[in-house]
Amino acid sequence: MSQPRILSGIQTTGNMHLGNYLGAIRNWVELQSQYDCFLFMADLHAITVPQDPKTLAENTLKLAATYIACGIDPEQSTIFVQSQLPEHSELAWLFNCITPLNWLERMIQFKEKAVKQGENVGVGLLDYPVLMAADILLYDADKVPVGEDQKQHLELTRDIAGRVNDKFGKKKRYVLKVPEPMIRKEGARIMSLTDGTKKMSKSDPSELSRIDILDPPD
Ligand code: TYM
Repeated sequence: MSQPRILSGIQTTGNMHLGNYLGAIRNWVELQSQYDCFLFMADLHAITVPQDPKTLAENTLKLAATYIACGIDPEQSTIFVQSQLPEHSELAWLFNCITPLNWLERMIQFKEKAVKQGENVGVGLLDYPVLMAADILLYDADKVPVGEDQKQHLELTRDIAGRVNDKFGKKKRYVLKVPEPMIRKEGARIMSLTDGTKKMSKSDPSELSRIDILDPPD
């Protein structure tokens, strides 16, 4: 019998930190023997904020190496780069055409990031969760193991899948599988070391706010 399927990814925006490890990758390692795992480097999501192309390419490879170093076995799990599969962007476009704008405008992460970028906020930042829905729904994923900060994006993914099924499905024949979020209680939200009210984040300008997986032991 085929195993249920898991899909998840991490943005290629710099070194992975303890929050990414405890909220996501540690769980993937445990799950890979019971699930058919698709784990990817989210480089298209990374470019929703400005990136240097050379550094982005290096970070993508570094992230793949970090997955493997943390225990993801490429013989057991499928590891891939998001931008190498044009289907992700193509499906995102189709979803754009049926997703109401106000579903995106209420996303907490968009509101937080938009404040930081001011008037220059890019459309990609608003559309980010639609691409994430495409990542997940393209693979008929059963479960999506993530940290708590991604919960709202997964609810949107489920809403988009529901809308497609209502519009284009036939009775009892769905078009898209509606995935379940998988958020473990332990490690779901690791906080910043400099501000206990904020989550640990790669985009925090202070390096003292986080522990990177590749930090030296001292
Ligand atoms: P990203 O790159 O921000 O984070 C990757 C994973 O790490 C988790 N995480 C945390 N967990 C606990 N405490 C923290 N402080 C913390 N910070 C981050 C995140 O919840 C996530 O599981 N949009 C996603 C990447 C993505 C994706 C997808 C994930 C793109 N497409 C499809 C799942 C399915 C993101 O930016 O994650």
